[in-house]
Amino acid sequence: MLFPHTRLRRMRKKSWVRDMFSETFLGPEHLIVPLFVCAHSPLEHQSLSELKICSLVHLERYVREKILPSGVTAVMLFPVIPQAKKDAYAQGALSADNVLLEAIRLIKDRAPDLGILVDVALDPFTSHGHDGLLDKNGTVDNDATLEVLGQLSLLYAQAGSDFVAPSDMMDGRTGFIRKVLDSRGFSGTGIMTYSSKYASCFYGPFRDVVGAKLPQGHSKKTYQMDVRNGLEALREARQDVAEGADALIVKPGILSLDILFRLKEKVEIPLVAFQVSGEYFMINQSSKNGFVSYENALMETLYVMRRAGASAIVTYGALDAARFLKSKR
Ligand code: PBG
Repeated sequence: MLFPHTRLRRMRKKSWVRDMFSETFLGPEHLIVPLFVCAHSPLEHQSLSELKICSLVHLERYVREKILPSGVTAVMLFPVIPQAKKDAYAQGALSADNVLLEAIRLIKDRAPDLGILVDVALDPFTSHGHDGLLDKNGTVDNDATLEVLGQLSLLYAQAGSDFVAPSDMMDGRTGFIRKVLDSRGFSGTGIMTYSSKYASCFYGPFRDVVGAKLPQGHSKKTYQMDVRNGLEALREARQDVAEGADALIVKPGILSLDILFRLKEKVEIPLVAFQVSGEYFMINQSSKNGFVSYENALMETLYVMRRAGASAIVTYGALDAARFLKSKR
């Protein structure tokens, strides 16, 4: 029926009507907070981007005072490794002093109900900043990298991580990791694969924090996806599902709404949108300039990712969003 018979504004007239018929619900249980962990504080590397780095000594307090009361129920851990401990082979990853092993054990011990996801990739540990090992020609060697990712995932599972989240974009890593975990008695540890991960410039603040600078002229385009493509997102997703993924991560989140929507329609598995560091800072910085309200901008982007198909969302604004949601109740 056409106007004037139908007037859609009737359904927007009062806030109770808008709320009653709203299609998208967002609660703190849908949010995952990224957490950078370092062994010692202060760091030699001061980040430009104000993303929080938590040292092991502060971790328990941060979890107890900030995360648990917020209502957010899961964290995603990233390691911050001093440059002196990095090398071309990412040996620090598989060493007993990989800071995340202690971080996982500590959180599991003090906050056993807090969900732990761990990002699995080699870039925080490599001197060249790539997500994998390099072959003679300087390209990332897919199958050699799988071996390390498998061992690293096993270490994180043994330490008590609930999910591992491989973010490296090597072919076959979901199945490879699944096999390693199953063969070592960790069939209960989940895999949340970064399935559609684009070669995006919006990972800048993250790379700054973990100190993963690529050599001049290098990029991650030989393994991360081309932003011009959508079909390969479907192909990646189908492979990851077939290889045993439990959920798929799509990133950058706000820049991949079409992908979230397509995957939601075509692939039967929960989707997680990752609002990446550069996306978060677009909001954060424009609110500092007074162009947008931080709360409104953050919440709008989170709702839109949910509307597009995301079950859960990783965002640097998770704790703030949880606070905003609480004040609305
Ligand atoms: C590690 C990894 C990256 C991000 C998540 N895991 C960086 C990259 O791939 O270069 C980006 C997260 C962000 O920007 O918030 N491979």
